Amino acid sequence: MLASTAPKDGALVRAASIVTASVAQPDARPVVRSFFDDASFTATHVVHDPKTRSAAIIDSVLDFDQASGRTSRTSADAIIAYVEAEGLTVVWHLETHAHADHLSAAPYLQQRLGGQLAIGRAITTVQDVFGKIFNEGTEFERDGSQFDRLFDDGDSFEIGALKAAVLHVPGHTPADLAYVIGDAVFCGDTLFMPDYGTARADFPGGDAAYLFRSIRRLLSLPRESRVFLCHDYKAPGRDTYVWETTIGAESDANVHVHAGIDEARFVAMRTARDATLSMPKLILPAIQVNMRGGHMPPAEENGTRYLKIPLDLL
Ligand SMILES: [Fe+2]
Repeated sequence: MLASTAPKDGALVRAASIVTASVAQPDARPVVRSFFDDASFTATHVVHDPKTRSAAIIDSVLDFDQASGRTSRTSADAIIAYVEAEGLTVVWHLETHAHADHLSAAPYLQQRLGGQLAIGRAITTVQDVFGKIFNEGTEFERDGSQFDRLFDDGDSFEIGALKAAVLHVPGHTPADLAYVIGDAVFCGDTLFMPDYGTARADFPGGDAAYLFRSIRRLLSLPRESRVFLCHDYKAPGRDTYVWETTIGAESDANVHVHAGIDEARFVAMRTARDATLSMPKLILPAIQVNMRGGHMPPAEENGTRYLKIPLDLL
């Protein structure tokens, strides 16, 4: 396991409300339309300011068929059609982290719709770790320069008249962010639906204790905050995908982290559970692309782009 770059405990346990206080807009209720990709169980969210119609696209998906190595843009094109039909201006493409289960469509969407691409500053740690795993040459920059903006904890930005705040929520990976936009929080891979629990913390640079502390910060947001998840896997007994809940519902009922569960108990549960999980089926293609901001590796001299499969490393 690699050393985590997560902030020290003091910074982590600071209430999320302190970070968001300067941008608090309790009455701001952005419009959120979500698109669910049931091949990767990913929810992409398009959030917009109803006053200015400025929008951000969070965690987009490029369709990828691993057997043929073929990419397609059906999911991304559905988002473009929605943006155009609603007359939205996309100002941000936001990644909550370097995903291991799907390829990002951000470069394609950016080229078609404009806007800036952002991720957490600790993406450089992910680039460093996976740059070594994939034996990338010096042409692969490990400084985050594939992105237009690298966010730090407590940063703020705007989507039209909407104010947004950035929370660094490491644990699943070192670089995870949550975005607080008006009354909505986009929590990435930290929390899942209350009946399903939390994200795994066993990837390189992951840390179950940091994940617990990150989740505690999220749970300190107002109870009525809307929570938009990055994934849903249908908990046993539930037959539909759901990707929206509230901070109150998570605090009261999340099976892994509801009030009363302490860090030691969570870490023991998370560690035991992670030991039973196999690697996500697209981790090798996904990380190779997503650590490049969604761009494919450069073409070889025959004009073809290739993805590598390191043997016996993960
Ligand atoms: Fe993830």
